[in-house]
Amino acid sequence: MGDAMRIGVVGAGNISGAYLRTLPALSNVSVTAVADLDHSRAVATASLLSGLRALPVSELLADDDVDLVLNLTIPGAHASVALAALAAGKHVYGEKPLAASTESGRAVLSAAADAGLRVGCAPDTVLGTGTQTARSLLDAGDIGTPVAATAFMVAPGHERWHPSPEFYYQPGGGPLFDMGPYYLTALVTLLGPVRRVVGMASTPRASRVIGSGPRAGVSFDVSVSTHVTGVLEHANGALSTLVMSFDVWAGRLPRIEVYGTDGSLSVPDPNGFDGEVSIFRGSDGSWAPVAEAGGYQGAARGYGVSDLASALVAGVPHRASGELAYHVLDVMESLLAAAASGGAVEVESTCSRPAPVPLGARPDAP
Ligand SMILES: NC(=O)c1ccc[n+]([C@@H]2O[C@H](COP(=O)([O-])OP(=O)(O)OC[C@H]3O[C@@H](n4cnc5c(N)ncnc54)[C@H](O)[C@@H]3O)[C@@H](O)[C@H]2O)c1
Repeated sequence: MGDAMRIGVVGAGNISGAYLRTLPALSNVSVTAVADLDHSRAVATASLLSGLRALPVSELLADDDVDLVLNLTIPGAHASVALAALAAGKHVYGEKPLAASTESGRAVLSAAADAGLRVGCAPDTVLGTGTQTARSLLDAGDIGTPVAATAFMVAPGHERWHPSPEFYYQPGGGPLFDMGPYYLTALVTLLGPVRRVVGMASTPRASRVIGSGPRAGVSFDVSVSTHVTGVLEHANGALSTLVMSFDVWAGRLPRIEVYGTDGSLSVPDPNGFDGEVSIFRGSDGSWAPVAEAGGYQGAARGYGVSDLASALVAGVPHRASGELAYHVLDVMESLLAAAASGGAVEVESTCSRPAPVPLGARPDAP
């Protein structure tokens, strides 16, 4: 463990347990400290791993045994925590979205560039075998030239299960900013960056009611669009149709499909790491499941952090990058701007597609 990247977790809420289950099994990272505005949460989380220290946030940021801050705070705090970590000389990897606005996302990327530090961002689900197998087929030309795609996520709303759901309905939340990063990161991984968007959005309910935990029954205001639809024009000319909603009880449309000149691909939900990919070849005239052909096998939340640690040592770009997350944030903001204006909006940023993950690769063994 001598050369492992030492990780300080900031934000010991719901999702922190998923990372703490994965990271100890990855040999190139070591979780050394945890902090939260609510110190009792940091203490409870620290008790889950031997040797893990609970520190006040300012002490964790200044700690010599922390190389990278894993930012698992709420979206509204992502940029301020990342900026504080970078100012303290730490690399950062954060939960999605990169920031609540492109303006604050730009500040994070520029502070990192000035300091020569790395910024990584969830989702790393797209590094698993689901999206990566689909990418491998696409890149091999198995469905010909990509023409279009669909991405579809509907749910009744996270307030039904999350005990503190308000942040999902504040700027930086809503179905687009909360779930959109999974679907848009998958679309950009598969089809490349987006250059133009159109969209429409609505907020059918002005308030929501907490469904679980000690504050169950409490009503709170909604300040974001909760049903968002749009069309994305990728730089390669492919058109993706997107539906993201917290206003739908249930739906049976597929999560992601990609259509090409020679066939179609069915891609599993990018909110998971694996799942079956199927292909319809025009020449065969039927759907067939596809064997895994790319991606980290057995992956879980935290693989993107390990991938970053390996890339840093190898001196190559990491895959779950700030550049990619910024482009996804820009696409989301542009989509809402298009919905507000009623016109098409050019997406200013672009990004490179991250390197594919070869089948059998491990994030901690480059
Ligand atoms: N809950 C999930 O299933 C899930 C899944 C994937 C991704 N995420 C993402 O993970 C992030 C956190 O979600 P969560 O569900 O764990 O939220 P949460 O509210 O359960 O936990 C967030 C924690 O961050 C702490 N915090 C807030 N601001 C802080 C600050 N400035 N400094 C230090 N600590 C601060 C809070 O006290 C809280 O303990 C969000 O970006 C969310 O989109 C959540």
